[in-house]
Amino acid sequence: MIGIIGAMQMEVEGYLQVMHEPVTKKVGLHTFYSGQIDGVDCVVACCGEGKVNAALCAQSMMLLFHPQLLINSGVAGGIGKDVHIGDVVFAGSVVEHDMDITPLGYPMGYVCGIDRVEMEADEKATALLMEEARHVYDGTVWQGLIASGDQFIAGGEKMARILQYFPKTMACEMEGAAIGHAAVLGQVPFVVLRAISDNGNDDAKVDFPQFAQMASKKSVQLLIGALPKLATLIKQEG
Ligand code: ADE
Repeated sequence: MIGIIGAMQMEVEGYLQVMHEPVTKKVGLHTFYSGQIDGVDCVVACCGEGKVNAALCAQSMMLLFHPQLLINSGVAGGIGKDVHIGDVVFAGSVVEHDMDITPLGYPMGYVCGIDRVEMEADEKATALLMEEARHVYDGTVWQGLIASGDQFIAGGEKMARILQYFPKTMACEMEGAAIGHAAVLGQVPFVVLRAISDNGNDDAKVDFPQFAQMASKKSVQLLIGALPKLATLIKQEG
Protein backbone atom coordinates (compact mmCIF):
# COMPACT_ATOMS: atom_id res chain seq x y z
CA MET A 1 0.00 0.00 0.00
CA ILE A 2 1.29 3.45 -0.99
CA GLY A 3 0.02 6.47 0.96
CA ILE A 4 -0.39 9.76 -0.92
CA ILE A 5 -1.10 13.06 0.82
CA GLY A 6 -1.75 16.45 -0.74
CA ALA A 7 -2.66 19.65 1.09
CA MET A 8 -5.26 21.10 -1.26
CA GLN A 9 -8.11 19.45 -3.12
CA MET A 10 -6.50 20.38 -6.46
CA GLU A 11 -3.39 18.43 -5.38
CA VAL A 12 -5.30 15.16 -4.83
CA GLU A 13 -8.31 15.24 -7.18
CA GLY A 14 -6.28 13.78 -10.06
CA TYR A 15 -5.57 10.64 -7.98
CA LEU A 16 -9.20 10.26 -6.94
CA GLN A 17 -10.40 10.58 -10.54
CA VAL A 18 -8.45 7.46 -11.56
CA MET A 19 -8.82 5.40 -8.37
CA HIS A 20 -10.77 2.17 -9.00
CA GLU A 21 -13.79 1.74 -6.70
CA PRO A 22 -12.49 3.87 -3.81
CA VAL A 23 -13.50 2.97 -0.26
CA THR A 24 -13.95 5.94 2.04
CA LYS A 25 -12.94 6.12 5.69
CA LYS A 26 -13.15 9.22 7.87
CA VAL A 27 -11.10 10.23 10.90
CA GLY A 28 -12.61 13.46 12.15
CA LEU A 29 -12.51 15.85 9.19
CA HIS A 30 -9.88 13.88 7.28
CA THR A 31 -11.22 11.53 4.60
CA PHE A 32 -9.09 8.63 3.35
CA TYR A 33 -9.80 7.06 -0.05
CA SER A 34 -8.34 3.59 -0.57
CA GLY A 35 -8.37 1.58 -3.77
CA GLN A 36 -6.22 0.72 -6.77
CA ILE A 37 -4.61 3.22 -9.12
CA ASP A 38 -3.23 1.47 -12.21
CA GLY A 39 -3.36 -1.84 -10.31
CA VAL A 40 -1.46 -0.49 -7.28
CA ASP A 41 -3.03 -0.40 -3.80
CA CYS A 42 -3.11 3.23 -2.67
CA VAL A 43 -4.65 5.42 -0.02
CA VAL A 44 -5.12 9.11 -0.78
CA ALA A 45 -6.01 12.01 1.52
CA CYS A 46 -6.28 15.78 1.39
CA CYS A 47 -4.75 17.03 4.65
CA GLY A 48 -5.39 20.79 4.49
CA GLU A 49 -2.61 23.37 4.48
CA GLY A 50 0.00 23.58 7.22
CA LYS A 51 2.19 21.35 9.34
CA VAL A 52 -0.29 20.26 12.01
CA ASN A 53 -2.93 19.26 9.44
CA ALA A 54 -0.29 17.35 7.52
CA ALA A 55 1.26 15.53 10.49
CA LEU A 56 -2.11 14.46 11.90
CA CYS A 57 -3.27 13.22 8.52
CA ALA A 58 -0.03 11.26 8.03
CA GLN A 59 -0.35 9.75 11.49
CA SER A 60 -3.96 8.66 10.95
CA MET A 61 -3.02 7.24 7.57
CA MET A 62 -0.14 5.22 9.04
CA LEU A 63 -2.27 3.87 11.89
CA LEU A 64 -5.24 2.96 9.69
CA PHE A 65 -3.59 1.71 6.50
CA HIS A 66 0.04 0.84 7.34
CA PRO A 67 1.47 2.19 4.05
CA GLN A 68 4.97 0.95 3.17
CA LEU A 69 5.73 4.35 1.63
CA LEU A 70 4.29 7.79 2.36
CA ILE A 71 4.33 10.32 -0.49
CA ASN A 72 3.59 14.01 -0.22
CA SER A 73 2.76 15.39 -3.65
CA GLY A 74 1.76 18.89 -4.67
CA VAL A 75 3.07 22.37 -5.41
CA ALA A 76 5.78 24.57 -3.93
CA GLY A 77 7.56 27.87 -4.24
CA GLY A 78 10.89 27.42 -6.04
CA ILE A 79 13.91 29.06 -4.40
CA GLY A 80 16.99 30.25 -6.24
CA LYS A 81 17.34 31.79 -9.67
CA ASP A 82 17.52 28.41 -11.43
CA VAL A 83 14.33 26.81 -10.08
CA HIS A 84 11.53 27.87 -12.42
CA ILE A 85 7.76 27.61 -12.40
CA GLY A 86 6.90 24.22 -13.91
CA ASP A 87 10.11 22.54 -12.69
CA VAL A 88 9.84 19.59 -10.32
CA VAL A 89 11.68 19.42 -6.98
CA PHE A 90 12.16 16.19 -5.01
CA ALA A 91 13.24 16.33 -1.40
CA GLY A 92 16.67 14.93 -0.62
CA SER A 93 15.66 16.00 2.83
CA VAL A 94 13.10 18.27 4.48
CA VAL A 95 13.32 20.82 7.25
CA GLU A 96 10.79 22.68 9.42
CA HIS A 97 12.10 26.17 8.75
CA ASP A 98 9.95 27.81 11.45
CA MET A 99 10.90 25.36 14.23
CA ASP A 100 12.97 27.63 16.46
CA ILE A 101 14.44 26.80 19.86
CA THR A 102 17.68 28.66 19.13
CA PRO A 103 17.49 30.64 22.43
CA LEU A 104 18.07 27.30 24.18
CA GLY A 105 21.23 26.69 22.16
CA TYR A 106 19.82 24.36 19.49
CA PRO A 107 20.35 24.93 15.76
CA MET A 108 17.49 26.47 13.78
CA GLY A 109 15.02 23.77 12.66
CA TYR A 110 16.10 21.31 15.35
CA VAL A 111 13.30 18.84 16.11
CA CYS A 112 13.24 17.48 19.66
CA GLY A 113 12.34 13.83 20.06
CA ILE A 114 13.90 12.78 16.80
CA ASP A 115 17.03 14.82 17.52
CA ARG A 116 17.73 16.26 14.07
CA VAL A 117 17.26 19.25 11.81
CA GLU A 118 16.84 17.55 8.43
CA MET A 119 14.73 14.48 7.76
CA GLU A 120 15.92 12.41 4.82
CA ALA A 121 13.57 11.21 2.10
CA ASP A 122 13.74 7.60 0.89
CA GLU A 123 16.64 7.46 -1.57
CA LYS A 124 15.53 4.59 -3.78
CA ALA A 125 11.91 5.65 -4.23
CA THR A 126 13.03 9.24 -4.89
CA ALA A 127 15.62 8.11 -7.45
CA LEU A 128 13.02 6.00 -9.25
CA LEU A 129 10.56 8.91 -9.43
CA MET A 130 13.26 11.33 -10.58
CA GLU A 131 14.23 8.98 -13.38
CA GLU A 132 10.57 8.82 -14.48
CA ALA A 133 10.24 12.59 -14.24
CA ARG A 134 13.28 13.15 -16.44
CA HIS A 135 11.66 11.02 -19.16
CA VAL A 136 8.34 12.81 -18.98
CA TYR A 137 9.28 16.49 -18.55
CA ASP A 138 10.87 19.21 -20.54
CA GLY A 139 11.24 21.28 -17.31
CA THR A 140 14.16 20.64 -14.95
CA VAL A 141 13.95 17.98 -12.25
CA TRP A 142 15.77 18.93 -9.06
CA GLN A 143 16.64 17.19 -5.82
CA GLY A 144 17.46 19.15 -2.69
CA LEU A 145 16.31 20.58 0.59
CA ILE A 146 12.61 21.40 0.88
CA ALA A 147 11.67 23.76 3.72
CA SER A 148 8.20 23.65 5.28
CA GLY A 149 6.58 26.14 7.62
CA ASP A 150 3.19 27.50 8.59
CA GLN A 151 3.65 30.47 6.28
CA PHE A 152 2.99 31.28 2.64
CA ILE A 153 6.31 32.73 1.49
CA ALA A 154 6.07 35.83 -0.69
CA GLY A 155 9.53 37.38 -0.47
CA GLY A 156 10.48 39.81 2.28
CA GLU A 157 11.78 38.86 5.71
CA LYS A 158 10.35 35.36 5.73
CA MET A 159 12.22 34.39 2.57
CA ALA A 160 15.38 36.10 3.86
CA ARG A 161 15.14 34.07 7.07
CA ILE A 162 14.84 30.76 5.20
CA LEU A 163 17.88 31.65 3.10
CA GLN A 164 19.82 32.81 6.16
CA TYR A 165 19.35 29.56 8.07
CA PHE A 166 18.88 27.08 5.22
CA PRO A 167 20.80 28.50 2.23
CA LYS A 168 20.58 25.24 0.27
CA THR A 169 16.76 25.30 0.19
CA MET A 170 15.33 24.64 -3.29
CA ALA A 171 11.63 24.88 -2.50
CA CYS A 172 9.31 26.13 0.22
CA GLU A 173 5.90 24.77 1.10
CA MET A 174 3.81 24.05 4.18
CA GLU A 175 3.55 20.27 4.75
CA GLY A 176 6.44 18.15 3.45
CA ALA A 177 8.60 18.30 6.58
CA ALA A 178 5.61 17.62 8.83
CA ILE A 179 4.82 14.50 6.83
CA GLY A 180 8.50 13.59 6.92
CA HIS A 181 8.55 14.17 10.68
CA ALA A 182 5.49 11.93 11.22
CA ALA A 183 6.99 9.31 8.89
CA VAL A 184 10.29 9.27 10.82
CA LEU A 185 8.37 8.83 14.08
CA GLY A 186 6.26 6.07 12.48
CA GLN A 187 9.37 4.48 10.88
CA VAL A 188 7.84 4.65 7.40
CA PRO A 189 9.95 5.78 4.42
CA PHE A 190 8.75 8.96 2.74
CA VAL A 191 9.06 10.96 -0.47
CA VAL A 192 8.22 14.62 -1.12
CA LEU A 193 7.50 15.55 -4.73
CA ARG A 194 6.60 19.13 -5.60
CA ALA A 195 6.00 20.92 -8.90
CA ILE A 196 6.81 24.63 -8.79
CA SER A 197 3.87 27.06 -8.85
CA ASP A 198 5.73 30.29 -7.94
CA ASN A 199 9.09 31.50 -6.65
CA GLY A 200 8.22 32.46 -3.09
CA ASN A 201 9.00 36.08 -4.05
CA ASP A 202 6.99 39.30 -4.39
CA ASP A 203 5.24 37.81 -7.44
CA ALA A 204 4.16 34.66 -5.55
CA LYS A 205 0.73 36.01 -4.66
CA VAL A 206 0.00 36.50 -8.38
CA ASP A 207 1.85 33.42 -9.68
CA PHE A 208 0.46 30.90 -7.17
CA PRO A 209 -3.22 31.32 -8.15
CA GLN A 210 -2.23 31.31 -11.80
CA PHE A 211 0.05 28.24 -11.83
CA ALA A 212 -1.00 26.05 -8.85
CA GLN A 213 -3.49 24.04 -10.94
CA MET A 214 -0.91 23.35 -13.65
CA ALA A 215 1.73 22.38 -11.08
CA SER A 216 -0.72 20.14 -9.17
CA LYS A 217 -1.54 18.27 -12.38
CA LYS A 218 2.15 17.84 -13.11
CA SER A 219 2.95 16.17 -9.81
CA VAL A 220 -0.14 13.94 -10.05
CA GLN A 221 0.67 12.84 -13.61
CA LEU A 222 4.25 12.06 -12.72
CA LEU A 223 3.38 9.95 -9.70
CA ILE A 224 0.54 8.07 -11.39
CA GLY A 225 2.85 7.19 -14.30
CA ALA A 226 5.42 5.73 -11.90
CA LEU A 227 3.14 3.86 -9.46
CA PRO A 228 3.56 0.34 -10.94
CA LYS A 229 7.38 0.64 -10.85
CA LEU A 230 7.20 2.08 -7.35
CA ALA A 231 5.05 -0.87 -6.22
CA THR A 232 7.65 -3.30 -7.65
CA LEU A 233 10.42 -1.48 -5.78
CA ILE A 234 8.49 -1.67 -2.53
CA LYS A 235 7.91 -5.41 -3.00
CA GLN A 236 11.64 -5.96 -3.65
CA GLU A 237 12.55 -3.98 -0.56
CA GLY A 238 10.23 -6.29 1.41
N1 ADE B 1 3.22 26.42 -1.82
C1 ADE B 1 3.34 26.90 -3.07
N2 ADE B 1 3.96 28.09 -3.08
C2 ADE B 1 4.25 28.38 -1.79
C3 ADE B 1 4.87 29.47 -1.16
N3 ADE B 1 5.33 30.50 -1.86
N4 ADE B 1 4.99 29.44 0.19
C4 ADE B 1 4.53 28.39 0.90
N5 ADE B 1 3.92 27.34 0.34
C5 ADE B 1 3.78 27.32 -0.99
